[in-house]
Amino acid sequence: MSSPSSYYVTTPIYYVNDEPHLGHMYTTIAADVLARHQRMSGRDVFFLTGVDEHGQKVQQAAEKRGIEPIALADQVVERYATLWPELSISNDDFIRTSSARHHQAVQAMWRRLRDADAIYQGMYEDWYCVPCESYWTETQLKDGDCWEAKHCPDCKRGLERVQEASYFFRLSDWQDKLLEHIHAHPDFIAPASRRNEVLRFVESGLHDLSISRTTFSWGIPVPDDEGHVIYVWIDALTNYLTAPGFPDEQACMEHWPADVHLIGKDILRFHAVYWPCMLMAAGLPLPKRIFAHGWWTVEGNKMSKSLGNAVRPADLLATHDADVLRYFLLREVPFGQDGDFSESALTRRYNSELANDLGNLLNRSLAMLKKYRNSVLNQPTTEEAIDRALIADIESMQRDVDEALQQQAFHQALERINVVVRHGNRYVEENAPWALAKQGENARLDAVLYHLIESLRLICLQMSPFMPTKAAAMLSQIMGQEVDSDQLRLAENGGWGALPHGHACRAPSPVFPRMD
Ligand code: MSP
Repeated sequence: MSSPSSYYVTTPIYYVNDEPHLGHMYTTIAADVLARHQRMSGRDVFFLTGVDEHGQKVQQAAEKRGIEPIALADQVVERYATLWPELSISNDDFIRTSSARHHQAVQAMWRRLRDADAIYQGMYEDWYCVPCESYWTETQLKDGDCWEAKHCPDCKRGLERVQEASYFFRLSDWQDKLLEHIHAHPDFIAPASRRNEVLRFVESGLHDLSISRTTFSWGIPVPDDEGHVIYVWIDALTNYLTAPGFPDEQACMEHWPADVHLIGKDILRFHAVYWPCMLMAAGLPLPKRIFAHGWWTVEGNKMSKSLGNAVRPADLLATHDADVLRYFLLREVPFGQDGDFSESALTRRYNSELANDLGNLLNRSLAMLKKYRNSVLNQPTTEEAIDRALIADIESMQRDVDEALQQQAFHQALERINVVVRHGNRYVEENAPWALAKQGENARLDAVLYHLIESLRLICLQMSPFMPTKAAAMLSQIMGQEVDSDQLRLAENGGWGALPHGHACRAPSPVFPRMD
């Protein structure tokens, strides 16, 4: 089992039949914030993202373009490879399901399930949604009011009737064990609404799952029966084990089980039902947590290819700073709920929280330090209640941010930091350093300037997982030298009072200019 100091976070692996879009960006940014926060807290982080290359959908998309599936995959992988660094994504590994290591892991997983008698051969006959890669039984279609129209309960597109020889996974064996696990681990599935959704689904009865196909070839062959390709979801889910080293179990367990799988709400059933049952059948530990976030619309519309620019990360990055996008996506909507991406909401939030509040606090504090003390800090020789209140707020903010991020409550973490930023601005008004300077109250002026700059340093530290580049730009002014966000550690930098007497800051240079 992984050690308590390790932290393993994953994103879904993205299909290569589509270009990267805002939805992919969202989960990956969220995972990156968790990874950065945990690294800063001293944990040994393993942050995994990647691509899902197999399946009928990818094969069909490649055929349409007249190329081999692997050629299509290579093209899309290239897009991700250039996009993630532009968004400061700090993944430790990038998994491709077409890789040899994954091929080996999936076949090992299959053998393990087969040896545990969790797999049998049968005839498969059902309704299949090609775009969603999901199978539907008659009962499920009737429950979803889709029986008459024969359309997919999820995407509402037409279903195909399929019949073929297939291997099955004994999913039904695990119904009670899974329910027990969910009840015994209240944090296993989040948010609570999704947990209830899974509980209802499992309680309604689990049917054995068809896990091989003979109708297409783009995938990993079933060991010892090459006419069958392993069902794409079994293939895809196993990526979470491949990357840390499966089937080398010792290596794998250095990171596994994952601390959290971040996913979108549409792929909850695969992660919170099929995956844990597979793992139980294989005798492997279950992930500690699965968090399903909501979906974005753009300017009030469902995201679709026809929307073009609005959802393409490359176009968003042409007009917006990466860190500002990161901040907005995690601040605007509570993680778990649906939200709308709009230019006006982004501008509003940027101007009020980043330009007016945080940017202004940094600028005015450094400007006063420059004006009254030539940018040099003096250690305070006095401390008043108003100072102690600010320090206490900073320290409780550090704890609150950590707790919020343990729950993936990104918006709450950011709001808590903003509370301190507003406190800082109030502190300026209430202490009026300009008046202290005029009256020659030097000891008090030194104390106020010190408390402001030291607060800003600790605020920027907490902001750095969300906005690594902007935080580094702010911290460089405070520290008087270039700061690299990746090197920040709370154990060394997180305590109050680390700035020494005589420390020289830089003159202010605006990090968040107002947006029109
Ligand atoms: N390949 C599977 C995942 C396998 S994980 C073992 C897959 N890929 S996907 O590319 O279709 O979707 C990846 C993620 O994008 C999903 O988590 C999905 O929820 C998310 N999003 C797709 N559209 C979205 C929005 N409009 N808004 C937010 N996230 C969205 O599913």
